[in-house]
Amino acid sequence: MTKAPERLTDTSASSFIADRWSPRSFAPAPISHENLVAFLEAGRWAPSAYNGQPWRFLYARRDTPDWERFLSWLIPFNQAWAQHASALVFVASQTVTFSNSTGEPVPAPTHAFDAGAAAVLIQLEASHAGWATHPISGFDHALARAGLELPEDYALHAALVIGQQRDKSYLPEALQGKETPSGRRPLLELAFEGRFPVRED
Ligand SMILES: Cc1cc2nc3c(=O)[nH]c(=O)nc-3n(C[C@H](O)[C@H](O)[C@H](O)COP(=O)(O)O)c2cc1C
Repeated sequence: MTKAPERLTDTSASSFIADRWSPRSFAPAPISHENLVAFLEAGRWAPSAYNGQPWRFLYARRDTPDWERFLSWLIPFNQAWAQHASALVFVASQTVTFSNSTGEPVPAPTHAFDAGAAAVLIQLEASHAGWATHPISGFDHALARAGLELPEDYALHAALVIGQQRDKSYLPEALQGKETPSGRRPLLELAFEGRFPVRED
């Protein structure tokens, strides 16, 4: 794979991290259950506060009865390209944890942080295995919650579109121009030793 200049890292960050990006051009290929579950397994190994593992992954594979249902919750923009992918994985997390002493639910302040970590591991694992992934939050959250039968104490964060990348010429023209790896702010704007820098605005 040739590295796009936008993805050259500022530091010695491993190249497999910068090699992951979120394309939209997918070949309508099936994915086996075994294959998909191997990616989700990577998410299982994410770190989480108190090892609470609040994440849950709800998935559908193309050519299965759930596929059209899952797709129907996406906004039309996302549906247009994600319909060609191989799997959709919704990422949710439990917003409460149950106290050891009282058994009462108490808020789990890092549930979203933990779920994000799990989602990134899934994407890196899939990317490492030669699959492309694209996270999306552009879906009707109420519809998806209802369709997934998500309990009230779970938050729904995003979905991961997973598939086999193909040439951008298969995309509608308007999307072809966007089908390129994006850049990043310089690390100097993001990481500070000791304290937050004085703001100029
Ligand atoms: C939580 C989240 C929601 C996103 N929602 C959408 C979406 O609805 N549609 C879309 O095309 N891309 C979506 N993206 C993809 C981002 O635009 C993309 O990750 C970002 O531009 C960085 O590009 P890269 O992933 O190729 O490095 C989303 C990404 C994240 C993390």
